[in-house]
Amino acid sequence: MAALLIDDIEQAARRLFEGGLVAFPTETVYGLGADAGHPEAVSQIYEAKRRPAGHPLIVHLAPGTPLETWAREVPDEARRLAAAFWPGPLTMILPRADHVSPAITGGQDSVGLRCPAHPVAQALLARFSELKSSPSGVVAPSANLFGQVSPTSAAHVLSEFAQTSHDILVLDGAASQVGIESTIIDLSRLKQGAGPVLLRPGHITAQQIEVVLGVPVHEPDHAAPRVSGSLKAHYAPRTPLRLMSRDELTRALAAWPPRAGRVAVWCFSLEGLAVSEAVHAFLAPTRPEDYARQLYARLRTFDDVGDYAAIFLEAPPAGTVWAGVADRLRRAAAAFE
Ligand code: TXA
Ligand code: MG
Repeated sequence: MAALLIDDIEQAARRLFEGGLVAFPTETVYGLGADAGHPEAVSQIYEAKRRPAGHPLIVHLAPGTPLETWAREVPDEARRLAAAFWPGPLTMILPRADHVSPAITGGQDSVGLRCPAHPVAQALLARFSELKSSPSGVVAPSANLFGQVSPTSAAHVLSEFAQTSHDILVLDGAASQVGIESTIIDLSRLKQGAGPVLLRPGHITAQQIEVVLGVPVHEPDHAAPRVSGSLKAHYAPRTPLRLMSRDELTRALAAWPPRAGRVAVWCFSLEGLAVSEAVHAFLAPTRPEDYARQLYARLRTFDDVGDYAAIFLEAPPAGTVWAGVADRLRRAAAAFE
């Protein structure tokens, strides 16, 4: 029982078809995949990730799969978003089709659908759908243990599952280009007048969605579907992490006692910071796309160094283009509050 690195898409598609687990690259993060129509395979995902039951999974579709295969109602809004952003880093929540298992939806009446843009993911999904008579889809949460930092390379997946008691094939596909999980937009309650609701910000911004739909995108309220990435603490490294304004960071470093150990800092400039031997400062990218691409690998590197007493991150600027990154940083920091 182990995680095994491969580059053979045929072997991976067959493993999925047989009810096994395959981790695969997507443009957002690596996913841990199983046949969405195979209940035992789906339950293996929860076991392997140590994910509590009741957290719904996203169904990944090969390009060209009709939305009706998985959704019983397909509003015009969903078609317009699919035309604009698929294949790509957008997940849509729609009313589920009757055949969709409650194990996938967390018992809810909706289903999450995404068509990834990564060529390896697309080839895997297309070959899997040839093997499987329709409807075919692959459920894939991020390929990390529950609550941990999502993997953006095959090496990250192998290290997450180094001790696994499951057989997992890990399909190689270089580093994920987006680097944070897909934007999730809930379109399941349009008929009830709820409007589109942003459940998880990401690379595709609320503003881009508003441009396509021509209506405002809402923040989640208490009636919105549950999202596990929306738990207050999530995406956390092992090393205690603090998110700070520039002023807080400047003061905290000036006051950092060397006997407290070494601190890793990811900040937008070194100017005015008290950088001592106990302070290892690294420059963060100033473009949100670059920051998102590097974020999870950076947190893993800080963890892997092993002896940092703390990680201090300078908070990124406000604004919709930073919303995905800001959300992940807040949740990572919340694990240590
Ligand atoms: O970018 C991504 O979305 C990656 C890659 C692998 O595709 N996947 C991913 O999966 O982030 P996961 O399981 O880590 O996060 C999926 C999120 C969860 O927060 C889950 O609650 C939400 O999608 N979700 C799935 N189905 C849902 C539904 N029917 N209603 C509400 N939320 C749903
Ligand atoms: Mg996840």
